[in-house]
Amino acid sequence: MKIIRATEYNDMSRKAANIISAQVILYPDSVLGLATGSTPLGVYRQLVDWFRKGDIDFSKVHSVNLDEYVGLAPEHPQSYHYYMNENFFRHINIKPENTNVPNGLAEDIDAECARYDKLIADLGGIDLQLLGIGHTGHIGFNEPDQDFDKMTHKVKLNQKTIEANARFFNSVDEVPKYAITMGIKAIMQAKKILLVANGEGKAEILDRALFGPVAPAVPASILQLHPDVTVVADEAALSVIQKNHPEALM
Ligand code: GLP
Repeated sequence: MKIIRATEYNDMSRKAANIISAQVILYPDSVLGLATGSTPLGVYRQLVDWFRKGDIDFSKVHSVNLDEYVGLAPEHPQSYHYYMNENFFRHINIKPENTNVPNGLAEDIDAECARYDKLIADLGGIDLQLLGIGHTGHIGFNEPDQDFDKMTHKVKLNQKTIEANARFFNSVDEVPKYAITMGIKAIMQAKKILLVANGEGKAEILDRALFGPVAPAVPASILQLHPDVTVVADEAALSVIQKNHPEALM
């Protein structure tokens, strides 16, 4: 695992965007695994900027998003479909038919999960998976204490996650209680993983995820077992690691 230290949010965003950009320049037909949340927003902004300058071409890229709320239509401003279109897809030249987000309105959620796993397999797997980390240590929507061997599945959101995400909704009651997420097993099958984190609020959980025991209590801890993980985090998010494992920081 490589840990890349960034000074602050914009620096984290640029460094992570550089890694994605290199992937797409080297392999224009890459399959990118994409994430939502507030952390990757700057990464998408930077990639859009480089696209506008003519530095990156997404015309052959396929994308696969990690998760989606159950019950939100793609047009709902808090759906992850909407987030991806607004913050990334509509600003670049990726083909809409090459973008994939789980369908939170599917009547048969289990069939939708199976379809999603098949779609990823048919694309030849994910070349580079971008991840944020939740306050509970979740990746995608894989909350603590779930099995590590799950592919795409439906999850009940943890109360802490619902409260953390309530800031995007009018009230906590509007936050969906369920989501579809790629499971830990599906995420671990990505060839490369790029995890981004910023701010003091992530410092404790980042330390537990990267240096604590590998256990379902901290879902992101499984990444310690992946052969190709790069973490790009700012000083604030690295502050506990800086204290406990200074030798790990470059
Ligand atoms: C959500 C998403 C995760 C994301 C996490 C952290 O719950 N499903 O993919 O990593 O929030 O979000 P943020 O980056 O806003 O802290």
